Amino acid sequence: MEFSDVVKNRYSCKKYDTRKVDRARLNTILEAGRLAPTAKNLQEQHVYVIESEENLAKIDKATPCRYGAPTVLVVAFDKNNVFTYPGGKRDSGIEDASIVATHLMLAAANEGVDSCWLNFFDPDELAKDLGLSENEEILMLLDLGYAAEGAGPLDNHNSRKELSETVTYI
Ligand SMILES: Cc1cc2nc3c(=O)[nH]c(=O)nc-3n(C[C@H](O)[C@H](O)[C@H](O)COP(=O)(O)O)c2cc1C
Repeated sequence: MEFSDVVKNRYSCKKYDTRKVDRARLNTILEAGRLAPTAKNLQEQHVYVIESEENLAKIDKATPCRYGAPTVLVVAFDKNNVFTYPGGKRDSGIEDASIVATHLMLAAANEGVDSCWLNFFDPDELAKDLGLSENEEILMLLDLGYAAEGAGPLDNHNSRKELSETVTYI
């Protein structure tokens, strides 16, 4: 798909049917995450693929926002392997993991796989529940699957500010 179509077609899917995402498509999506840039090329991300009933139940305990997706990606990063920016106030962890997550989300759209980015959960509680190590912080969850019949973008999907409101040439 043309990149502009991927960006236009993607929307946050909030109702999935039971169709699973096949391994080949999932691998293509994960590969796009692997190729994401990270500060100093540290690659501190780790992506967990959740498909088992046991772990999907943990996602459902953490958030009401799985919407029936058969696959959930957990994007985490190693807090001990981030690049601290000059000034010492910020580091690359959240940014790097966000870029990885964005690659995953757009690659899913390119593969015809619907998705929704989730942050409505307590990342520390979920990390503990999934047995992640102390040094790993969860950035976000990505629901993956196929939209149920009749599901589609919410009304706010087409409500974006004009470029003139968000861009200034200075
Ligand atoms: C950082 C971020 C966090 C989000 N968290 C959630 C969430 O926890 N639950 C949810 O249903 N949607 C979540 N969304 C989806 C947004 O609600 C959605 O992207 C936004 O309303 C625009 O709709 P669209 O993606 O269909 O264009 C999140 C999106 C982003 C970018």
